[in-house]
Parts: sequence; C-alpha cells; structure tokens
Amino acid sequence: MDEIPVALREAKKTIKSSYITTNKVNIVIVGSTVAFLALAFFFFNRNSPQKSVNVNQTQPVETVENNTPTVTQNQTSPPLNQEEKIPDNILGHLPYEEAPQNELKAITNDGGIKLRQKAADKFLQMQTDAKTQGVILMPISGFRSIKDQEYLFFQVKEQRKQPTSKRAEVSAPPGYSEHHTGYAIDIGDGNVPATNLSTNFEQTSAYNWLKNNAAKYSFELSFTPDNLQGVNYEPWHWRFVGDTHSLETFYKARQLTTKLK
Ligand code: DAL
Ligand code: ZN
Repeated sequence: MDEIPVALREAKKTIKSSYITTNKVNIVIVGSTVAFLALAFFFFNRNSPQKSVNVNQTQPVETVENNTPTVTQNQTSPPLNQEEKIPDNILGHLPYEEAPQNELKAITNDGGIKLRQKAADKFLQMQTDAKTQGVILMPISGFRSIKDQEYLFFQVKEQRKQPTSKRAEVSAPPGYSEHHTGYAIDIGDGNVPATNLSTNFEQTSAYNWLKNNAAKYSFELSFTPDNLQGVNYEPWHWRFVGDTHSLETFYKARQLTTKLK
C-alpha cells in the first residue's frame, strides 16, 4: 500500500525537478566565472612586464642593449680573498743565482771585492762623487759565492752557538743571499770604520750621503727597518737596480705583500 497520498506525491515531484534545474543553472554560472577568471589571468600575465630576477653575481647575465640581444657576459667579480702568493724562501731569504765570474768587475785595488760590471761602474762613480764632498764610501763585501756563504752561515752559526733562526736574522743561507747576484754591496764609512756592519752606521755621514744620493746611481737599501722578509735592519747593505736584469732579479714575481717571518 502506498502510504503517500497522490497530491503529496505530485508536489514532491515538482519540488525535486525544480531543485535539479536550479543546480544546473548554478553549475553553469560558477563554471563560466572560473573560465572567465582563468582567461583574464592568462592575458594579464602575458602583457605585463617581466619581473626582475635576483641573479647570483657569479652566474652569466644576459645583457640587452637597444632591444637587441647581445653577447652573454659573465659578471664574475674578483674573489674577495685572493690567495696570497708566498715566494719560495728560507726563513725569509729569497733564492738567488750566482753571477758568472766573467761578468764581475773589481771595485777595489787588490781585486778582492767585485760587482757585476754595470753595478761596479755605478758604484765607482758614486764613490768618486761622494769623495768630492768629503765622504768615504768604503766597500766591505760585494759578490759572494754560495761557498763563501756556506762559511758565513753554517760555520759562524756554530762558532757563535746560534740557533738557525737567529743566524738567519743577520745572514742568508747559502743560495739565498743577494750577494750571490753581484748586485749587492755592504758599504762602510772610511772615516768611522768602527761602525762597519753595525746599525750605528746609520749615524755616519756616509749613510746620510747614501740616503740622499744612492738612488741617483740606482742603488737602494735592501733591508729597511721593517722589511717584509723579516731580516734585521742593515743600513750598510745596498743593491743595484739600474738595469732590466737586476730589476728582474729583485722584483719579478716576488713583490711581497705579506711578512715572511
Ligand atoms: N746579510 C745579508 C742578509 C746576507 O747575508 O745576504
Ligand atoms: Zn750585505
């Protein structure tokens, strides 16, 4: 037996059909709205300008000039902490080749002290000019062989019972002395020999004259008070830098920026 009366059954059918129709309309409205919004978003994005992109500086960056794409440039910046180049050294002393004997010239009458030809000529000229002003530039040591330096470093070190590092403050190990090059010379004051190879040489008129005039003859002080090699101050030790070979010998690929010891 049907428990729902006929009139009521008919009313229920109408309600159900109306409910379905309303739902269909809603689906169409929502669907159209979504499609419209999607299209609007697509067109808006296509026409808007490119957003800037945060690029890492080390990556290639494309450059554009007058709307014409140009070559891609690599904008790599120099690294902030460049590796320091430490030259080959022993206890702060740099390696030097021994000058050939036939390139040496005596600067003393007995021939005991020699320099490379050009350095010798310049020293003799400097000595002559200083003498006209009453200043006696006395050569103490010029070219030294590696064998000479072996005695000065090892023998003297043992005689004085010096630790190696202490000896290296005042003497270069063999193979590492500027004196091997024939460009270096130790100079004393002929009027005050007691100051030879002593920092007191700084008080002499010879040192004062050299300080003011040596550059005119292309001589310079090697071991200044705070030299980066960490060698003791030697106001008596001068080196010639008046031609390409001497300049290369002392400066090429070994400009120091860091103290060696
Ligand atoms: N006195 C200097 C450092 C040398 O021995 O060459
Ligand atoms: Zn010297």
